Amino acid sequence: MPQLAYVNGRIQPLADASLHVEDRGTQFGDAIYEVCAVMNGQILDWQPHLVRLRRNLAELGITLDMENGPLTLQARRLIARNGHKQCIIYMQISRGTAKRDHAFPGAAPANLVMTVRRFDFAQRIKQLATGIGVITQPDNRWGRVDIKTTGLLPNVLAKQAAKQAGAFEAWMVSGDTVREGSSTNAWIVKDGRIITHPVGTAILPGIARSSLIHLARAAQMLVEERPFTLAEALAADEAFLTSTTAPILPVVRIDGQAVGTGMPGPVVSRLADLVWAEVAQQTGWRA
Ligand code: PDD
Repeated sequence: MPQLAYVNGRIQPLADASLHVEDRGTQFGDAIYEVCAVMNGQILDWQPHLVRLRRNLAELGITLDMENGPLTLQARRLIARNGHKQCIIYMQISRGTAKRDHAFPGAAPANLVMTVRRFDFAQRIKQLATGIGVITQPDNRWGRVDIKTTGLLPNVLAKQAAKQAGAFEAWMVSGDTVREGSSTNAWIVKDGRIITHPVGTAILPGIARSSLIHLARAAQMLVEERPFTLAEALAADEAFLTSTTAPILPVVRIDGQAVGTGMPGPVVSRLADLVWAEVAQQTGWRA
């Protein structure tokens, strides 16, 4: 079955799908995006993703001429037409196509594109047994990384550095504070307390992050939303990361140094049970 993409109201073969060369997303990174997990054909945490998408549009003053109802229908239609039960859907909305000028164009409608890719979530469950390593990189991003824009060059460079170092992720460090990963939120566990950077302007408010906080608190586990240092992370009992494409993964090495025992620990294991039970409850999917 050929892969299909959605471009401004039309579903077409991915190979033919394109935007104008003067799309503002290309020229200025003047675009926002969302990535959602789809399991068993169901979009996980769709409502929170929609809320964040609308907030991002509002923060940047981008007008999307489509309500949530039709947007949901179009997303579901693209997923169904692509035929993958386990996949991710990528949605990008730019300020539109216009003659290149930094200031906003007068009347350009937003460009909405969506793509769907098959995704192997079962591998994330296998990785719970071994955990993954991260490296650290200086956080040299702009001051509003809470807005999910396509201007991701520092994240791209950080992820590439991680890949070259044989690590799964790069943790972005500002001063001595660990903020988040290049495409994931960062967590440590110390004396049973689960610690992650607070939301604000310095991290992306991850959907997997807020879901995990909710699940952990409902299970009477202690969550602290506060900044933590790299030294704290290196001295932590356990560490982990969360995102749409990695709902929870133990971090067992930071810059080559073992975290705790150097093996996935009991708190992350318990959290992983909660996270995957929630996935099963929402979507019916089990590995
Ligand atoms: N990344 N922090 C950053 C910088 C991110 O780009 C992401 C998401 C997250 C986690 O957010 P969520 O739980 O909503 O996925 C944190 C997506 C998956 C991406 O860019 O592909």
